[in-house]
Amino acid sequence: MNKVTTLNQFIIEQQAEHPEATGGLSRLLHHIGIAAKKVNREVNKAGLVDILGQAGTENVQGEQQQKLDLYANETFLDELRASGECCGVASEENEDIILFDQGLCLNGRYIVCMDPLDGSSNIDVNVSVGTIFSIYKRLSPVGGPADLGDFLQKGTELVIAGYVLYGSSTMLVYSAGDGVNGFTLDPSIGEFCLSHTDIKIPANGKIYSINEGHYEKFPVGVKKYIKYCQEKDPRQGRPYTSRYIGSLVADFHRNMLKGGIYIYPETDVHPHGKLRLQYECNPMAFLAEQAGGTATDGKRRILEIEPQEIHERTPLYTGSKNMMSKVSEFLDFFGNI
Ligand code: AHG
Ligand code: MN
Ligand code: MN
Repeated sequence: MNKVTTLNQFIIEQQAEHPEATGGLSRLLHHIGIAAKKVNREVNKAGLVDILGQAGTENVQGEQQQKLDLYANETFLDELRASGECCGVASEENEDIILFDQGLCLNGRYIVCMDPLDGSSNIDVNVSVGTIFSIYKRLSPVGGPADLGDFLQKGTELVIAGYVLYGSSTMLVYSAGDGVNGFTLDPSIGEFCLSHTDIKIPANGKIYSINEGHYEKFPVGVKKYIKYCQEKDPRQGRPYTSRYIGSLVADFHRNMLKGGIYIYPETDVHPHGKLRLQYECNPMAFLAEQAGGTATDGKRRILEIEPQEIHERTPLYTGSKNMMSKVSEFLDFFGNI
């Protein structure tokens, strides 16, 4: 029988390679895994129970919150609090940072930034959604409450980033800064099992992912790059294929495995880009780089952007190294406004 490595075994083995580790991150990841399984259970039965549809409230971005958005948010918050290792969370679903300032959590050495349910407009039509999480070491003193400065760290300070994809199978993919590994949920035993070891995004890809509905308002460099993707050049594998799910996690995951580029540039609706730096772009940029790809806002490396506030938005260009170099050439030549 093939030996299966569960997420928890993997975490323990990784921890053993770092004798100085206290086990705090392992506990945190363990609880993230539990939250992912709970959310997966609800996503899977979403068509069966009265959990579909909008909750009738709006979040800080003025977007309708879906019921599953709220469930995922509460579930991840509960598990992060229960880990005792996390002293606060910045979530897409909460305007302000949430401080865990009771009991054990005051001694928690980590903070988490998360998008508890990404792609939630896809829920009602049974299309893949995800969770994005990232973990930083707190800067504020252990033993007291966390503060805003803990949440406004640059992506270069990330300790762990990952996502959960609730798709045709459910996967948890994460990196602790030494490569990217993917775990597929085996529903028969209720465990995430190591299925994708040391994921590397192919340097060349043939997929471009962008919401072309906003084409007219794209920066000129992006328009020209899209035309380049569509031009026929069989020696270089063009025209490329266009794939856009509308769930960042799903679009990013496909490109990670197959090679490709994902672009969400400035548009008239979202002049600074739509995606959020702290809980969407930074974690994905960290994973892209760990897998051998790159991530920019069209000018700067995403991970080096100094965040000003927790819900700030940024354009995002990420994916295969050579495709990213090519789009940069177009942006440099034709401009990114
Ligand atoms: P969320 O559901 O967390 O608000 O995120 C939605 C994001 C992201 O998942 C996706 O890539 C993007 O919005 C899609 O936006 P468009 O519909 O504008 O293409
Ligand atoms: Mn999102
Ligand atoms: Mn979301």
